[in-house]
Amino acid sequence: MYFVANWKMFGDLKTLNSLDNVIKFCKNNKKLKSKIIYCPPNTLIRPLSRRLKKTKLEVGAQNCHESDNYGAYTGSVNAKMLKSVGAKYIILGHSENRQLGETDKLINSKIKSATKAGLKIIFCIGETLKEKRNKKTKQVLAKQINNGLQSIRNKSKIILAYEPVWSIGTGLIPKSEDLIKSVSFIKDKFGKKCPKILYGGSVNSNNIDQLKDINILDGFLIGGASQSSKKFIDIIKKTFN
Ligand code: 13P
Repeated sequence: MYFVANWKMFGDLKTLNSLDNVIKFCKNNKKLKSKIIYCPPNTLIRPLSRRLKKTKLEVGAQNCHESDNYGAYTGSVNAKMLKSVGAKYIILGHSENRQLGETDKLINSKIKSATKAGLKIIFCIGETLKEKRNKKTKQVLAKQINNGLQSIRNKSKIILAYEPVWSIGTGLIPKSEDLIKSVSFIKDKFGKKCPKILYGGSVNSNNIDQLKDINILDGFLIGGASQSSKKFIDIIKKTFN
């Protein structure tokens, strides 16, 4: 199982102290085979990767520029630069960035550049509430997958995160039957070489009991609740109880 913490725009150097609880939890639960990946803002990637050196926790970034090279792109960093400060993973295609204008084509370029740099991709897809109401979910997911992963080899190495836009930060999660339908649709689309599929959107220690029963999922991408080490540990604990 994957537990990916997406901190979004949250945290400073002091905040990293709270991870000691998670490190301790992992040390005390050696049998835990899960992958635990923290994606902090870029400012914390280096200090966090240092801190996690002798632990089984890993570090990822939240986005990057699509260029493989340095360039005149004020405020941007590319995948190579993120890798060089300790990122092993990268979240791409997050709906918060799609809403700011990221297209499938741009996301596809970012995936290519990040793969070249040696980062593992966590590729986010998901429908808006309007698209869900208009029964367009499958169509939207298919388009995001087809365009986002166009001419990407080794698709099975990508980690896919299904995050319905309407469930992010709202406290709402899909009905189990709807979630199973969407995830099954994604799985069928890839066939035998299916990537790992995570669910993201308002995952917390209350609804994890419902979510963990959906056994076609490979883990969770957790926003708000991952900012508290206690809530994050609770989610992991409850997943296996
Ligand atoms: P929340 O868990 O805060 O809803 O955020 C989900 C998310 O966007 C993770 O990438």
